[in-house]
Amino acid sequence: MTALCRATVDTVALHYNLRRIRELSGGAKVLAVIKANAYGHGLVPVAKSLVDADALAVARMEEAVALRAAGVGQRLVLLEGVFNRSQLELAAANACDLVVHSHEQLQLLEAFDRQSSFTVWLKLDTGMNRLGFRPEEFAGVLARLRSLHAVRKDLVLMTHLAGADELTGQGTRAQLELFEHTTRGVQAERSIANSAGLLAWPESRAQWVRPGLALFGVSPLPGKTGEELGLKPVMHLGTELIAIRKVAAGEAVGYGSAWRANRDSSIGVAAIGYGDGYSRHLGNGTPVLLHGKRVPLVGRVSMDMITVDLTDHPQARVGDSLTLWGKGLPVEEIAQLAGTIPYEMLCGVTQRVSVEYLR
Ligand SMILES: Cc1ncc(COP(=O)(O)O)c(C=O)c1O
Repeated sequence: MTALCRATVDTVALHYNLRRIRELSGGAKVLAVIKANAYGHGLVPVAKSLVDADALAVARMEEAVALRAAGVGQRLVLLEGVFNRSQLELAAANACDLVVHSHEQLQLLEAFDRQSSFTVWLKLDTGMNRLGFRPEEFAGVLARLRSLHAVRKDLVLMTHLAGADELTGQGTRAQLELFEHTTRGVQAERSIANSAGLLAWPESRAQWVRPGLALFGVSPLPGKTGEELGLKPVMHLGTELIAIRKVAAGEAVGYGSAWRANRDSSIGVAAIGYGDGYSRHLGNGTPVLLHGKRVPLVGRVSMDMITVDLTDHPQARVGDSLTLWGKGLPVEEIAQLAGTIPYEMLCGVTQRVSVEYLR
């Protein structure tokens, strides 16, 4: 059975983007961030096709366990670290690197009495005020970590940028300076840059870059698409026309009569809705691709269906394919029309959508 609503994940584009990121990163190693189901692209298949990444990163223990259970053997970093003893044991059993960002995590490591040891990514808070030790705590925490048998010598120092997508703001510069100043003289690798950092702030590249969004061919920078940055979109969200009907001038379409025809119109009904992750915030005029041409969404997005105006496309037939985002229709543009960010659009694709991998 072929599903009507499909996300096609182009792993050739994924490899291409990894190469492009390497080109841009000036020799830095790549920690490929594939949390949240690889930004909606499928955790295990994406991990398995990123064999050329230097390491993979996830947010949660469950994600790491799923990767190991699927046979992924690459170096794996837990970006939020662990929160109790049993998670620490699981991290050891699954050979995970740990981000350590809090005193509770430090104490867990201090109390750890097994033979295993971890590579620790020591996280400093340089202004994001979410996770990480404050600069004044850094030297003390580093000394405690270095004294532990459970912590290997190859510790990595990291911080996270709060606004690397703002090219003119002073925030990133201040974070970079504070990180540099706090860690000066310490012999260790460093990691700062997310996608926006590596694209827009060369000084943030350090020894490890941590791209997520850019791997999937999508731009984190406002006003720029991934394609403009030399990346290729990995996800193509598509569906089919399931009905075409005539609507007379003056008649309304869909819930709440949110669109009314100002001429006799031909309306296509397509099998996708917010139940698939196509946002209900998308309104009249949102572009959808039919045979490579843009046709406008009309009326409200419902749970399983959308309606598009095909009046100017008389050749359209039931069964024709539509693209909601992907090549030729950047998810960045659709996210903006939905009043959100591409991260949320990609992660929001639901279980009902069938995912196909192009290899
Ligand atoms: C600590 C950390 N590093 C890197 C990333 C990757 O960010 P991006 O997808 O913007 O490249 C994330 C994602 O939120 C993150 O939390």
